[in-house]
Amino acid sequence: MENKKTIVMGVTGGIAAFKAAQLTSNFIKKGYDVEVIMTKHATEFIAPLTFESLTKHNVMVSTFEKVHERSVKHISIAQRADAFVVVPATANVIAKIAHGLADDMLTTTFLAASCPKIICPAMNTGMYENIVTQQNLDLLRSYGYTLVEPESGFLACGDMGKGRLADISIIEDAVEMTLVKEKPLLGKQVLISAGPTQEALDPVRFLTNHSSGKMGVALAWWAKAMGADVTLVHGPIHERIPYDIKSISIKSACEMFSVFQEFSQDADIIIKAAAVGDYRPAQTANDKIKKNEEQFSLPLMKNPDILSWLGEHKKTNQVLCGFAMETQNLLQNAEKKRKEKHCDLLVANNLLTKGAGFGNDTNVITILSNQEIKEYPCMSKLEASDHIWQHILAIMEQKGESLC
Ligand code: PMT
Repeated sequence: MENKKTIVMGVTGGIAAFKAAQLTSNFIKKGYDVEVIMTKHATEFIAPLTFESLTKHNVMVSTFEKVHERSVKHISIAQRADAFVVVPATANVIAKIAHGLADDMLTTTFLAASCPKIICPAMNTGMYENIVTQQNLDLLRSYGYTLVEPESGFLACGDMGKGRLADISIIEDAVEMTLVKEKPLLGKQVLISAGPTQEALDPVRFLTNHSSGKMGVALAWWAKAMGADVTLVHGPIHERIPYDIKSISIKSACEMFSVFQEFSQDADIIIKAAAVGDYRPAQTANDKIKKNEEQFSLPLMKNPDILSWLGEHKKTNQVLCGFAMETQNLLQNAEKKRKEKHCDLLVANNLLTKGAGFGNDTNVITILSNQEIKEYPCMSKLEASDHIWQHILAIMEQKGESLC
């Protein structure tokens, strides 16, 4: 219990204050200790009791109430905080924290805290776009705070435009990513592929596979959490793209190939977790193919092998990590792929192993490099990604790369 990470949640007076309750509940379910501090105005929108019930802690509002219990509470909470998230952050509170004002419990504790800080603005579009607010936000950026941009849409005041609080899951990502203290990938460009490809037969049908994109998305999450600039090239997937990751959506293997040809030279690390179709219909019919014949054969042609191309065009010090999806002779086939495709690292998984492969939240991986073969038990794709990244970091060090 003592090792629990503490997230301090500052709730300010905007209509989106109710969403902070969902966020609190999500963090509590994940095992974090959450301390909530509200502004007086926030209590007009949602009762402190809601947060007290969720966190099992008193909610702090005024610096002066219950002085005996909390005379230096703002300092002790500031010292204990592993992350401080202000959600929603009104224009007023943004202005105050940008200029170091500390006239209530929230702003006082915020000023005293030295942990990573995450600001989630939510307000009317006019207020958000106002030059004063924008300059205050620039100030917060310049202090190294994480800003989770609001979304555009229909606002509570009836206006349409930018100002709606970012999706709760995106805020959750941003907070949890700041909790990853080590940032060895700062300044590094990471290119990751995820999900299936679709190869069209006609305007109605396509050839594809069961990849959900979960493995690639988990790898992207860790790369971002460790400080990298991440581009995720993905086929049609339903997975949510994590916070602050550039996403490029493709359908076919040829489209994926074009993107990799364009971006691979700028990448320090490339991971190919996508399940790329090996073949595509030799021709894509312009109209729906009719079912006239009893038997129907479809001529296929080979797709470009993107990983092989990347291996052939690998620049100095670039790290290339491939995957191998097998149903038999896992190690033999994977080692063959690693060598033939010039990969520094290859992650092998056997689709027939329980808990491995497509669609699951878990995987069973074996990591092959020219130095070792390491087998891992069944674990979540996020945990598996952590291990893959540890291997990648080790290879970068061997290559003499300086890591932050
Ligand atoms: O997406 P999930 O549901 O989470 O599932 C994860 C996964 C099973 C898709 C993932 O763990 C995985 O194994 N990805 C690789 C799938 C695959 O295509 O394996 P392969 O052995 O057929 O290909 C070997 C490597 O070459 C892969 O890195 C692949 O991206 C790449 N390749 C393959 C064919 C091709 N034309 N171009 C390629 O770049």
